[in-house]
Amino acid sequence: MVKLVVTDKDGRDVEVDARAGLSLMENIRQLPRSVEAICGGLCSCATCHVLVDPDWITRLAPRRYEERLMLVGSRSFDAARSRLSCQINVTKELEGLRVTVAPDDP
Ligand code: FES
Repeated sequence: MVKLVVTDKDGRDVEVDARAGLSLMENIRQLPRSVEAICGGLCSCATCHVLVDPDWITRLAPRRYEERLMLVGSRSFDAARSRLSCQINVTKELEGLRVTVAPDDP
């Protein structure tokens, strides 16, 4: 298990014992007030948007072009911190990762 901390849509910090080999989205979507992930991880909905803690940005694999395209339309897009949680693979190197679930777009 890989310990992560997720700040949910209500601002509560939730500790998650994540499974390596699954995406971040697959590990956090079951939490209350978390990501919706309505496309199931196909990089086509952006409802799995999270904001990555600044200390962790450079430790993640960079965004692919398709991921950025999906994110830029969001009102809460942050060029430095926004990621699609379905595009982040959880590995043991992510122990301690902190992310915040992005607010819903109206
Ligand atoms: S789940 Fe739809 S883009 Fe990530």
